[in-house]
Amino acid sequence: MDLILVGDSAEMVAHGHGNTLPIPLVVGDLPFGTYESSAAQAVESAVRLVKEGGVDAVKMKGGAASRVVEAALALQDAGCFAVVGSSSVCRLRSQRLPQQHCGSQPSASGLDPLCTTTSARNVREPKPLQAGSAAAAQQRAGVDRLRGPARRVTVTTLRGKHRRGVPITVVTAYDYPSAVHVDSAGIDVCLVGDSAAMVVHGHDTTLPITLDVMLEHCRAVARGAPRPLLVGGLPFGCYESSAAQAVDSAVRVLKEGGMDAIKLEGGAPSRISAAKAIVEAGIAVMGHVGLTPQAISVLGGFKPQGKTVDSAVMVVETALALQEAGCFSVVLDGQVLVYHDLLGMLQHRHHAKVTPKFCKQFGNVGDVINKALSEYKQEVETRTFPGPSHTPYKITPMDVDGFATALQKMGLSGAADAAAAAAENSEKDGGPKQNS
Ligand code: KIV
Repeated sequence: MDLILVGDSAEMVAHGHGNTLPIPLVVGDLPFGTYESSAAQAVESAVRLVKEGGVDAVKMKGGAASRVVEAALALQDAGCFAVVGSSSVCRLRSQRLPQQHCGSQPSASGLDPLCTTTSARNVREPKPLQAGSAAAAQQRAGVDRLRGPARRVTVTTLRGKHRRGVPITVVTAYDYPSAVHVDSAGIDVCLVGDSAAMVVHGHDTTLPITLDVMLEHCRAVARGAPRPLLVGGLPFGCYESSAAQAVDSAVRVLKEGGMDAIKLEGGAPSRISAAKAIVEAGIAVMGHVGLTPQAISVLGGFKPQGKTVDSAVMVVETALALQEAGCFSVVLDGQVLVYHDLLGMLQHRHHAKVTPKFCKQFGNVGDVINKALSEYKQEVETRTFPGPSHTPYKITPMDVDGFATALQKMGLSGAADAAAAAAENSEKDGGPKQNS
């Protein structure tokens, strides 16, 4: 890829929000509300994206001009190196990007296609609920129909399954799309684990992730998975000091993260007290024994536990102590599979290194992703994409003529010819279609 845009569309496609906000890359998107008030505010936000987000450049929306080309040219005058349109990124002619960032010949409009992007997604508003329908009634009553009690897995559901000897499925998820998949597969329990630090954030251990970052993951998962029991993992550093600290953190996971329960690691007496205090606070607790990644400092690395009689007995004793403290379940190594490992998103060197031996790979999703990205790159470079079938927005021939005349008057005759040619191609392709 020549340019990677980490767009604020992440808020919709990864975090499941109904609108947009930010994340890092090569070009970082300034989210709504961080640059509109003043130039100083915009500079501060841009500096934060570069310093804290590690991006090389920032993107902001708008152009304070009613006409698209004029706005783009005004942005060029302001010094922008590129402009994102509805399905493409244009390099501005006066700006020189390093050669490897530029994959195209300049066009006559002064706006040179740099590469296509999926950042401008067509997001349809949800259809209005039919008046009188059950869903509409629930919405009026303030009840989220997806999180209606009848469909949700609770600790009572799990107890029932356990009593009947029915196996219980548990998989991790960290964002909206993974949560949607876990939910629609009918998995019983969805764990938003601190393994996010490794499989999502690329750390070598789970230690660096903070409670605030975990809460962000929890919220995205809660929006995507209304059915499974949602368990939020307490990350390292937010529950070890005291039972009070553990309760405070657990409360945040439920209140701010939208989870149904929490998970904590280990079985030292202080951990048992913390589990007990959290359960007493009214929060269901999942324990975790055996290889507890947050304890690699004392375990001497990611070392499987219970391989000797003494060690195995200790694992059982710890599990029983956690049960005694009120935990509704206890994770043992390998019982809960990490989403990325299970799906076979392991092509990345980092994943290959950290995937545990016990994990069965049920898919080969990494290969599918690599293939799609390579095809996209190839089609852009050979100018196959975007073609007429992916340019759904049409204007009438009369408006094309008017637009071409306006471009001529602006001295952009090359762009005028290009617009006329594009309109002609589109005519051949079936003529103007209804904008949606
Ligand atoms: O907390 C976690 O992410 C986990 C996974 C390793 C299953 O326990």
